[in-house]
Amino acid sequence: MGRTLGYGCVQLLSLTVAISAQFQVTSKSRLVVVVVGTDAVLPCTLSPPSSPLELEVRWFKNLYTSVVFMLKKGNEEKEQLMPEYRGRTSLQAGPQNGDLSLSMHNVQLSDAGIYHCFVENKTSSIYEEAITELSIVAVGSLPNLTLSLHDNSILISFSSSAWFPEPEIDWKGIDGTKITVYSNTSVKESNGLFNIESSILLKDASDGPFSYAIRHPVTGKDTGLHMSIHENMFPRISLWLYAFLSAVIVLSVVGIGAIFYVRKLQREKECLTGRIADLSSELDWRKAVMNPECITFSPETCHPELSVSEDRLTLLNQPPAFVPLPNDLRFETERCCICLPDFSSGCHYWEVELGPGVEWAVGVASPEVRKKGAAYQFSPRENIWCIAFFIDTIQALDNTEKIIQVEGGGILERVGVYLKLSVPRQVSFYDTRNWSLLYTFQMESRNRLKVQPFFWLGNKGGEIRLLRGRTEVTNEQEGFEDEHLL
Ligand SMILES: *[C@@H]1O[C@H](CO)[C@@H](O)[C@H](O)[C@H]1NC(C)=O
Ligand SMILES: *[C@@H]1O[C@H](CO)[C@@H](O)[C@H](O)[C@H]1NC(C)=O
Ligand SMILES: *[C@@H]1O[C@H](CO)[C@@H](O)[C@H](O)[C@H]1NC(C)=O
Repeated sequence: MGRTLGYGCVQLLSLTVAISAQFQVTSKSRLVVVVVGTDAVLPCTLSPPSSPLELEVRWFKNLYTSVVFMLKKGNEEKEQLMPEYRGRTSLQAGPQNGDLSLSMHNVQLSDAGIYHCFVENKTSSIYEEAITELSIVAVGSLPNLTLSLHDNSILISFSSSAWFPEPEIDWKGIDGTKITVYSNTSVKESNGLFNIESSILLKDASDGPFSYAIRHPVTGKDTGLHMSIHENMFPRISLWLYAFLSAVIVLSVVGIGAIFYVRKLQREKECLTGRIADLSSELDWRKAVMNPECITFSPETCHPELSVSEDRLTLLNQPPAFVPLPNDLRFETERCCICLPDFSSGCHYWEVELGPGVEWAVGVASPEVRKKGAAYQFSPRENIWCIAFFIDTIQALDNTEKIIQVEGGGILERVGVYLKLSVPRQVSFYDTRNWSLLYTFQMESRNRLKVQPFFWLGNKGGEIRLLRGRTEVTNEQEGFEDEHLL
């Protein structure tokens, strides 16, 4: 064990040492493994315990001059210390106790290396040394487990940080079979420690159970776990997936269906609204036609050349027996007469019979219609909405004098007048022989409209009779439908 600094006669000096047998330096372990950040103790024993006064104790790392601790003549010598060891190293005891073990505080990765415990008798220049390797390790954090669905498989991923050196990752099946690693990454941080992540993909229950381990290459210790994925989990996952997909599909179907349904409802509602409007119009029409108004001519309004029968139901093309008294209501310019009552709302129907004659007009007029003064054309502008037979044609006096074609040689014997004072206000004329619509006036809704039945008899006119009772309306005679469909 003994060695001298001289290189002369090894044999002699060995003999000398053997004789003197001054001291021995030993280490009880060749390797010390320390976790980074903790304190390390590098063992060194001096035997026999001696006075520190004649000995120099030098701990150095790798090189003689790289001093990490020095004791000279019983005093700690700090000047030769490498800066990074100042204040971090001390002897556990001392030569007098035979214990030269070095304490190193807060070891770093850079502290790893071979340490020499070198003891020299300065008087005899005899030295002894022992070496110990310091290995720094970092055991990373407990692995984090992440489970996630990856297509139809389960992705199992472990991550762990702060390892040194780089650990080994071991995925194993329960029977020791290797499991194919899906991905693994190892990243060396600036502090020299490794972060690792590794994952596998389990396709079905036959892939498990398995174990996962991170093995430290220095300590040989495993950090890991056994894990088994119950086979129930797979169908359940696919079931969940299925349920989810189904839900998505159902939702989209419901969504699309709902949109269709809502649209359908809207369409149906629009149709129904239209149909109901039609139906209610039709009902109004039928009701009115079934219950014709009992209107009577108002003799006070008749032109002096016209007269009214005693029952006030017939307008005659002849002057009355007695010269009528002038009044504000009487038509003086045109050969007209109006009926009572007047109408301001609702639906009304009356029917007139046109006696032999070629000059007549049938319609409605507002009470403001001009009765005196200069001659004028019948038209809605004059508050008159009527059809007229004049010079062999039947016309709608709508400002355009539209000619109305009538079946049966152009002769009309009866005209049905349907007055609708709900918006849109209309007055329609029917040929009651076949319920064909002759013409409909849209009555502009200026003010609240009040109208009365209106008649004109020309010089060549016959007579006009107001009918009590009505022409039968059968289902086949859908006069109303004609109006609304055309
Ligand atoms: C150191 O060497 C001297 C001279 O040989 C010897 O007298 C002394 O006892 C030695 N000291 C120790 C502590 O061995
Ligand atoms: C593990 O999880 C903890 C808590 O979420 C997090 O702080 C840590 O960074 C994670 N470690 C790794 C290696 O992902
Ligand atoms: C990651 O995988 C590659 C090859 O698959 C392997 O060489 C490497 O050692 C693995 N890394 C870890 C940290 O296991």
